Amino acid sequence: MKNLLSASLMCADLTDLKNAIKDLEDAGIDYLHIDVMDGSFVPNITLGFDLVNMIKKITNIPLDIHMMVYEPVKFIERMNLDENDIVCVHYESDIHIHRTLELIKNKGCKAGLAINPQTPVESIRDLTDYIDMLLVMTVSPGFAGQKLFIGAERKTENAIRLLKEWGCEHIPVEVDGNISTENGIKLCKKGASIFVLGTSSLFLKDTPLCEAATNFRKALES
Ligand code: DX5
Ligand code: ZN
Repeated sequence: MKNLLSASLMCADLTDLKNAIKDLEDAGIDYLHIDVMDGSFVPNITLGFDLVNMIKKITNIPLDIHMMVYEPVKFIERMNLDENDIVCVHYESDIHIHRTLELIKNKGCKAGLAINPQTPVESIRDLTDYIDMLLVMTVSPGFAGQKLFIGAERKTENAIRLLKEWGCEHIPVEVDGNISTENGIKLCKKGASIFVLGTSSLFLKDTPLCEAATNFRKALES
């Protein structure tokens, strides 16, 4: 599977987002990762649906919407998205997650399913027909700048093994949280192929976005 880079916009300079997105376009970034939080499913509030729709109007980079909200079904229709975009909802956020995944697919988008560190991969077995991506959270969701949880490598490896066992090796595994170059290489070796890049590898004080993205991509290939 081709390695794809998804830039976490909550880590960008939000006072200069348009230029940051321009730089990410120049850097050849594959996805814009947009963390939507409700202050309830996670103890933080970040980017909203109006911003999602504004960003969609100014770039051709596909969006990777990470919904950290309870009952995401209430909000899916608020976003103007297309077949290249991913809407990723949390397994723990919705007792009718199957119906929500179906709604995302019926909307014509790609459906992603995210699992928190404590949620076993086995939990999603009966949902694999409804997803185009599995997001293995490598931190507890809600904040940038955290450290990888101890079992992240093992869990990523287990996810890849089980997807293969289930005949679902076509479903890529995304990792999100403290994806530094070092952690990215380790998780790539375990089979992850979509990398959410935030404060640990892309939005760095002393390195231009373009250079940071190129360095990360090269490191994965090394
Ligand atoms: C955290 C978010 C991540 C975060 C990544 O809940 O889902 O996307 O922005 O930031 P870093 O790379 O700093 O962990
Ligand atoms: Zn995220």
